[in-house]
Amino acid sequence: MDDRRPASLGILGAGRVGTVLARLAVSAGYRVRIAGSGDPSRVGAGALATTATAQWAGDVAQESDAVILAIPLGRYRELPVAQLQGRLVIDAMNHWWELDGLRPDLADLRTSTSETVQKFLGRARVVKAFNHMSARDLEEEARTPGAPGRKAIAIAGDDPADVETVAGIVDDLGFDPVVAGRLAAGAMLEPGTDVFGAAASAEHLRELLAGFATSQRGIMQARARRS
Ligand SMILES: NC(=O)c1ccc[n+]([C@@H]2O[C@H](COP(=O)([O-])OP(=O)(O)OC[C@H]3O[C@@H](n4cnc5c(N)ncnc54)[C@H](OP(=O)(O)O)[C@@H]3O)[C@@H](O)[C@H]2O)c1
Repeated sequence: MDDRRPASLGILGAGRVGTVLARLAVSAGYRVRIAGSGDPSRVGAGALATTATAQWAGDVAQESDAVILAIPLGRYRELPVAQLQGRLVIDAMNHWWELDGLRPDLADLRTSTSETVQKFLGRARVVKAFNHMSARDLEEEARTPGAPGRKAIAIAGDDPADVETVAGIVDDLGFDPVVAGRLAAGAMLEPGTDVFGAAASAEHLRELLAGFATSQRGIMQARARRS
């Protein structure tokens, strides 16, 4: 692992995707802390088997160098805002209407959901990653760098240094990083796009991103942003 990479990763959300990311991060040599919505003793064996430490969400945020958000997006207002100030925060969340219900604030095509999270978190440094691949594919497709068939994860963020750090984390966890653009470009990775659900090579992922502008979703978004 590179010296500039964070030594410790916090994961808020100990469900399907949070526990998979915890296992991948432990395998990659990170010190991992993980939290569910409440008492750490309720975090299941699936996460703890990884030697990740279960803690209260505020402590995970406070004590980790970088923090992955893996809770239902509809609950983002419960995030420990004070403890996340100044911290690198990786947003793996999606507006998933089955889980979140229909939320007009999260369905506004003029704004990516990561920008909404960034606005709420103030001085946290939000980068979007790990949202578009299913938990099962994340678990099954992680490979060492250069391995045949390695899949890619798209990243969107405003600060080039933070994007580079997250690219390193993506690589450590088993995927080729593909930079999609600024945080606003996170809209290209959301549910309803061709990228969402993709477990694709870096080359294919770049093609999917390039096709966004002429996709139905891309046209709708451009129209909404002009209005
Ligand atoms: N599942 C996937 O394949 C997948 C892939 C990529 C991204 N995602 C995204 O990742 C997020 C989580 O999805 P999931 O499928 O992993 O959901 P999930 O299995 O329902 O797990 C959600 C987890 O979030 C925790 N949580 C809820 N509110 C919290 C809070 N305020 N603080 C800390 N933890 C909290 C829950 O804890 P309690 O059980 O204690 O409530 C639970 O451990 C969603 O936004 C989803 O769109 C999912």
